[in-house]
Amino acid sequence: MAKQRAKLVVGNWKMHGRLADNRVLLQAVSHGANDLPDDVRVGVCVPCPYLPQAQSLLEGGCVAWGVQDVSAHTQGAYTGEVAAEMAAEFGASFAIVGHSERRAYHRESGETVAVKAQRALEAGLTPIVCVGETLDERESGKTEQIVGAQLDAVLAKLSVEDSARIVVAYEPVWAIGTGKSATAQQAQDVHAFLRARLATKGDDVESVPLLYGGSVKPENAEELFSQPDIDGGLIGGASLKDKDFLAICSAAVAATAAR
Ligand code: 13P
Repeated sequence: MAKQRAKLVVGNWKMHGRLADNRVLLQAVSHGANDLPDDVRVGVCVPCPYLPQAQSLLEGGCVAWGVQDVSAHTQGAYTGEVAAEMAAEFGASFAIVGHSERRAYHRESGETVAVKAQRALEAGLTPIVCVGETLDERESGKTEQIVGAQLDAVLAKLSVEDSARIVVAYEPVWAIGTGKSATAQQAQDVHAFLRARLATKGDDVESVPLLYGGSVKPENAEELFSQPDIDGGLIGGASLKDKDFLAICSAAVAATAAR
């Protein structure tokens, strides 16, 4: 029997936003999130230059903010990189690490993702560790092998205590930005596999939040979030529209109530 865990819905804005549009979006999300019950938590991961704006508009409310990546280094001659501690100075709570776009376009290895998770934890941020298979990998029956190895690389580097402080997001690469979400059953199957893998590290690690990401929309969110091992979502495109994002947050409420 699955334990009742709080739901978490996090927006990943990717490289979108401008000051004026952000203000409207952040204010609407902050306002709408006030009506959500305490067992549904909401966050937005913004491009780094907008951290001060997110902080000034969200501070004191119930929406947390974060970044989409952090450096594997703490400081030094790493042009263009942003240290986890820098994000923490602007009140960030979350740092996405190992998003498939970074693994693919920046050739981030499992080892690099693990170090980034460690840097985030050291700075007091919650790393949202992304894992996911490509369409080819799914079609050749390698989904569990791929996501298992991606998760293991991170767990191998972290202590049991630190492992219990992460969030894991399953994002099948073929479902990201394609409009083609995994079915609730496909997602649940992988989440159950990941949950079992987390359990091997300890009881507290077993219950870390497991988010689904990949074409989550108001229409499919409740069914996805009602699955026993899906604790919420990591939302790309739909997090840029206040009504859609808030509808997805409400779906998390409905899914919790239905359990
Ligand atoms: P979409 O919701 O746009 O498919 O993006 C998912 C994602 O990559 C979130 O990190």
